[in-house]
Amino acid sequence: MTRVFSGIKPTGPVQLGNLLGALRHWVSDQDEADTIFCVVDLHALTVPQDPAELRTRTLELAQLLLAIGIDPARSTLFIQSHVREHAELSWLMECNASFGELRRMTQFKDKSDQAEFVSAGLFTYPALMAADILLYDTDRVPVGDDQRQHLELSRDLAIRFNSRYGDTFIVPEAAIAKVGARVMDLQHPTKKMSKSEDSPQGTILVLEDLDAVAKKIKRAVTDTETDVRFDTAEKPGVSNLLAILSACTGTTPETLAESYTRYGDLKSAVAEAVVETLRPIQERFAELAADPSGTAAILASGAEKAQAIAGPVLERARTNIGLLPQS
Ligand code: TRP
Repeated sequence: MTRVFSGIKPTGPVQLGNLLGALRHWVSDQDEADTIFCVVDLHALTVPQDPAELRTRTLELAQLLLAIGIDPARSTLFIQSHVREHAELSWLMECNASFGELRRMTQFKDKSDQAEFVSAGLFTYPALMAADILLYDTDRVPVGDDQRQHLELSRDLAIRFNSRYGDTFIVPEAAIAKVGARVMDLQHPTKKMSKSEDSPQGTILVLEDLDAVAKKIKRAVTDTETDVRFDTAEKPGVSNLLAILSACTGTTPETLAESYTRYGDLKSAVAEAVVETLRPIQERFAELAADPSGTAAILASGAEKAQAIAGPVLERARTNIGLLPQS
């Protein structure tokens, strides 16, 4: 069976763009693949974090993944730092990645430009990400468009390691989500929906109050024309609403456009679809949040299952690279 692996950072609240882009595919991948999902808390440490907040966010993100439908009976769900193999393989990856290729990563350039403290971990971030993926003999990695370059580097590192030290790793394929991959900001529809701090009215959070969600959608920026059509260049706001509705209903945005003649009706339909998508997720999240020990047990068993795969793969890498076995 195809092995799918993906990770998500516990750094800010999950928004609708994450849900309709990457995370929705994680849920459906469970039907056809051997799926492993990881909350990558070590990656969160590449920028300064408040310890108590990091702990809370890590647990809540795991609960949210369960709430959206990651099923521990079918998937392995775990916390990155619980499986020590990640940190160890990351070192081997760092020693086989070049300074030049890490420096070319656009995410590093963007983030280091903005940060006042640029950690060494921010620079080697993609080596840890490669370790995450390669530890599980991963075939396919579902990620958002912004991770394309990191994925390409993971592949390069796997190929390089195999050619330097002999067959060790499976070379993974990226699976970049297309439909719903780019949910745009409701107030600035030519910008991707990203952080709520940057645009509170343009961003919908998965755990946000549902009345507030409906209001934000009804106040979304459209344009001065009046016709409803799917045209991302000329009508980014309307097209974004159609894309969101499409992701919630499974009907194409072009077909949906034919059903609406007024912006107000389209907005009402989008508001209702999003609210009805989020409501059951919020209800399940509340149940899980009321029972943290239940989640802890799921994560403990997830880490154990993950470790059973990662341990032997790390051993293979250690041996092939020439580390003396411990006897
Ligand atoms: N870098 C990814 C992101 O920011 C998160 C991530 C870490 C990841 N390790 C991974 C994604 C392994 C896929 C596979 O979204």
